[in-house]
Parts: sequence; structure tokens; C-alpha cells
Amino acid sequence: MPVLDAFGRPLRDLRISVTDRCNFRCTYCMPKSVFGKDYRFLDKKELLTFEEITRVAAAAVEVGVSKLRLTGGEPLLRVGIEDLIAMLSDLPVDLTLTTNASALPKKAQALKDAGLNRITVSLDSLDDEIFKAMNDIDFPVSRVLEGIEAAQAAGMPVKVNCVVKRGVNEHQVVELARHFRGSDVILRYIEFMDVGATNGWRMDDVVPAAEIVEMLDREFAVEPVDPLYRGEVAKRWRYRDGSGEVGVIASVTQPFCGDCTRSRLSAEGKLYTCLFAVRGHDLRALLRSDASDDLEGTIRAVWTRRADRYSELRTADTSSLRKVEMSYIGG
Ligand SMILES: C[S@@+](CC[C@H](N)C(=O)[O-])C[C@H]1O[C@@H](n2cnc3c(N)ncnc32)[C@H](O)[C@@H]1O
Ligand code: SF4
Repeated sequence: MPVLDAFGRPLRDLRISVTDRCNFRCTYCMPKSVFGKDYRFLDKKELLTFEEITRVAAAAVEVGVSKLRLTGGEPLLRVGIEDLIAMLSDLPVDLTLTTNASALPKKAQALKDAGLNRITVSLDSLDDEIFKAMNDIDFPVSRVLEGIEAAQAAGMPVKVNCVVKRGVNEHQVVELARHFRGSDVILRYIEFMDVGATNGWRMDDVVPAAEIVEMLDREFAVEPVDPLYRGEVAKRWRYRDGSGEVGVIASVTQPFCGDCTRSRLSAEGKLYTCLFAVRGHDLRALLRSDASDDLEGTIRAVWTRRADRYSELRTADTSSLRKVEMSYIGG
């Protein structure tokens, strides 16, 4: 039976972080100054096992979830990720994954064969110098493009996420659009968000969605498209000449808390009902106890109590709250 939260919002999506580790050090997500040699990542035994993740996902489906997204950290770093996908693919859900694509040339076919429906790749720039400065490990654009091609060759629809940061890659908005326009890849721009407490977020660094759309409109002429369903995160725009569409995710300047149907499971099994939450509900303790039969009831109870609407309440003060990191909770 579907469940509604305190504001009448249903639970539809579960994002599952399968690891808090990553091989990139994107400055807006895992800055090297914080996520360096001394950073304590989770131990293997602290991570939920694939069986545990599958049990939580199955219980979440019972209370209304119809979309699962595997994320992290970098989900393709989790050994045997294809096995998890195969286990989750038995559930009646849309199964997708977000990745930096570094391992995609090698893994795309296996992911597809295991039952992955779609994939989202992060790419913030087509200019090597800018991209390397953003991923901070010298990773070249060409290898991400190879990953995208491999996913397409394996038969998976691909979306590309680009985080736009003022003074860093805003000029890449048009370049990326030019590159992907007319292809099957749907490009989505994301406003730089104040997730976590380590990325030095300032409102001045945010390029508002309205400005992104203006840049696109000036260059290509775009018009809005109606949302496909309630709670769709990206506002959609299409090129007037029929060469496809883009999405813009304006979680800072046009918060969409009122329609938010997402929950998140951290790599160690804490259930969060908001990306900006400070605390999660410990499902791992429950899973590893004698009362684990009541997983579904627990998820239902957590969601029923939910009254989060952080993005609508955001101010300069709330941005420095000790929120959990995106690499931990799952982006
Ligand atoms: C945390 S990552 C995890 C999956 C994978 N490592 C990747 O980069 O695609 C998921 C998404 O969150 C986005 N992201 C990370 N930090 C962000 C921030 N501060 N603001 C907006 N988006 C962010 C990334 O660009 C990526 O598209
Ligand atoms: S955005 Fe993804 S690739 Fe970049 S540091 Fe965060 S988890 Fe890693």
C-alpha cells in the first residue's frame, strides 16, 4: 500500500548509495582538502551487503517505490555491482545508475546484461583543462565520452548531468548543448548545491537556472515542455528546431520540495528523507537484528513522519549546517 508523508507526498524513488568512495575529487563534491589520505571512509563490513540492499529495495517497493537509482560515491567502484543489479532487476522498478563513467567502457555491456535500464553520466565540461580542474584527478573528457558511447552501444538510454558553477564552467553550458544537440543523449544542467558541509558553497557561485535557459535560448532558441509526471526534478526545454531537449535542475533558485518523492539509503544503511538531512534512520541495525521482518513497517513509519522541505527554507545560515556529504548519502 502506498504511503504519504506529512505533506501528502508519496514515496516513489529510492536512491541507493553503494559506496562512499570515489576515484574523482570533484571540487563541488569531495574536495581534496577534506577527502584526502586521512579521511575515514566506511569499512567493508560497515556497508550493506547486496542481500541487505535488495531486502530494503523490495520493502520500499511494497510502500510505493517504482524507481531505483544506484549512486555513491562512484557506484562502479563497488566490486560485483553487476550482481547487485541482477538481484534488483527482479523487482518491478525502473532501474538506473549515476556514474562518472571512468569504468563505463569496461562495464557498460555487463551492466546492461544484468538488467540496468538506463544510465546517467556526469560531465561538467568538454574542455579538458576545465574538466580536469573540476574532477581534480586529471581525468580527460575523451574517456567520459568513450563511456557514453559504450553505454549507447550496449543499448542503454543515456542522460548527462552537468553541475554549473559560476566562474568555472558556465561557458560550457552552450558548448555541451551544441555537442549533444541532435543526439539521443539528454543533457541536464544542475545548479551548484549546498550539499554537505565541505564544498565551500556560496550563493554567488550558483548560476541560476533562468540564466542557463537564457544562454541556451540566445544561442539555439528553446521553449518549455510540460512535465511528464508530478515530481519530475528537471524542468524540460526543447530546441524549437526539433533537435531534442535539455533539462535544468533548479533546486536552489526554484526549489521543488512540494513535489519531492525521493528517499535515500546511505552505503551503511541509513535511510534519509531529504538530501539535506542531518540524521538518517538506521536500517542496518534493524536488518541485522531479530526484528528485521518489520522493514516495510519501519520505512512506512519513517516516511509518514517526514516533513522535510530544506530547499524551500534555505538561507545563507542553513547552508553551513552540518549536513551529510553527497558522496555518503548518494547524489
Ligand atoms: C554524488 S554523484 C555520485 C555518482 C557519480 N560519482 C557521479 O558523479 O555521477 C551524483 C551526482 O551529484 C552531482 N553533484 C555532486 N555534488 C553536487 C553539488 N554540490 N551540487 C549539485 N550537484 C552535485 C554530481 O555531478 C553527479 O551528477
Ligand atoms: S560528483 Fe561523483 S565523481 Fe565527482 S567526486 Fe562526487 S561522487 Fe565522485
